[in-house]
Amino acid sequence: MSSSLTSATYVRNISYGLRRQLSDFLDPQDRWKDVIVSIRKPSGEQRYSQLHVRRFESLVAQGKSPTVELLNDWGTSNCTVGELVDILKSHSLLAAACLLLPEEKYSLAKTRQLSSPLQTYRDAPTRPLDERPNQSPNSGSTPETQVLSENSETGHTDFSSFLFSDLRRITGNFDDRSISDGGSRLGEGGFGTVYKGFLNNRPVAVKKLNPMDDMPLDKLRDQFNQEIQTLRVLKHENLVDMVGFSCDEQQLCIVYAYMANGSLLDRLACLDGSLPLSWRQRCLIAEGTARGLEYLHSNHHVHRDVKSANILLDENFVAKISDFGLTRASAKHTSTTMMTERIVGTRAYMAPEALRGQITPKSDVFSFGVVLLEILSGLPPADENKEPQFLMEIRDNIDDEDEDLTLEQFVDKKMTDWELSQVESIYCLASSCLDDRKNRRPVIKQVLSEIRSVVKSNSLDS
Ligand SMILES: Nc1ncnc2c1ncn2[C@@H]1O[C@H](COP(=O)(O)OP(=O)(O)OP(=O)(O)O)[C@@H](O)[C@H]1O
Ligand SMILES: [Mg+2]
Repeated sequence: MSSSLTSATYVRNISYGLRRQLSDFLDPQDRWKDVIVSIRKPSGEQRYSQLHVRRFESLVAQGKSPTVELLNDWGTSNCTVGELVDILKSHSLLAAACLLLPEEKYSLAKTRQLSSPLQTYRDAPTRPLDERPNQSPNSGSTPETQVLSENSETGHTDFSSFLFSDLRRITGNFDDRSISDGGSRLGEGGFGTVYKGFLNNRPVAVKKLNPMDDMPLDKLRDQFNQEIQTLRVLKHENLVDMVGFSCDEQQLCIVYAYMANGSLLDRLACLDGSLPLSWRQRCLIAEGTARGLEYLHSNHHVHRDVKSANILLDENFVAKISDFGLTRASAKHTSTTMMTERIVGTRAYMAPEALRGQITPKSDVFSFGVVLLEILSGLPPADENKEPQFLMEIRDNIDDEDEDLTLEQFVDKKMTDWELSQVESIYCLASSCLDDRKNRRPVIKQVLSEIRSVVKSNSLDS
């Protein structure tokens, strides 16, 4: 694919598939705008005006990718891949540059020593020297921050590359005992094990990834590097903040902000004796999750593993979606619906089309419908000792008048502040999210607005 490209190849000869992959990096957060303003005519003037920028912008509403359209347009001139790569590199869009010319190795290898004072990307070369914080007198050379530079204008916070040995140290050699037994293990999932550690007194969660059978380490590493580049631009109050990563040894790790109240799954189950979540808290958690998903979808990302274990709660019980991105690792995509050979996700949450390998934002909406049922009932998403086994199927029992389960009986007895009309609204919404036909499901924007009106009526009541 990209191996046949050289610096001299014309942009118009970049394959459609590769343009789509580029759009994955450049559409989120409007990174394509950095590119468009750097494109110049042979005379040196900017090729595109603000009016052009607005025209490309308006294509998003038509479901088109501004990156793909920009490349189509610019490609009508004799511009080359080399020029495009130079522009990408000048904006530190290194993963996108490597996609075109893999030999343009971006040095993810230079890592920061944890023992050195925490240096943020505000030290990045994009800032004038005199604005940088003082460097220590013996640091004649650049501090050992790595190359994913932080653009001060975008306001992205610290995002670092760590040494695996340092992550090993802060997690007590990845101590597999649970926290209550004096170890550092927070939990385990499909991609690896999560450990707690402290970075300069800040608690963090370190996920140590396990290579998967269908993805050798090399391939996982490439995907991982590209994914990291994408994820660092996805920033939202309702997404778990990624602090950094390590990829210097045979093990890949991702470091996340530590979420003090664990997962929604565990809090609904009142694991370790935690207090039950109130109805009001649950509505706010549903709203926060829908906001996070809306942000991902509007940035052309499908989560593919929406579930209560991936909804984490910070010290104020604000919902933060985790593991966005990882699950897309082996996706091959075509326009808005992607297909994959590797079925990703968790059975108890999966939409019928997701089980067939289709990837669409509507499958996230379906999975979110299951989360809404968990929030209402406090029940786990699957219980093999029960009939039906899956929570998503319990709807049939509630909707069917011959069955004796009413909505009131379904509601979690561990909360006391619920209102029937609000519970009905959320149940109705969950049902529409869980429609087998994806075209009948609401889009996440509609889901969010429904939940917002419940939250609003909830605040009026209290
Ligand atoms: N940032 C974090 N802060 C606190 N706890 C976390 C954090 N990330 C994960 N955990 C804990 O670790 C557990 C395991 O997480 P992990 O993401 O590996 O698995 P999962 O969510 O169950 O499944 P999946 O692999 O599909 O995401 C979570 O359920 C949660 O309890
Ligand atoms: Mg997870």
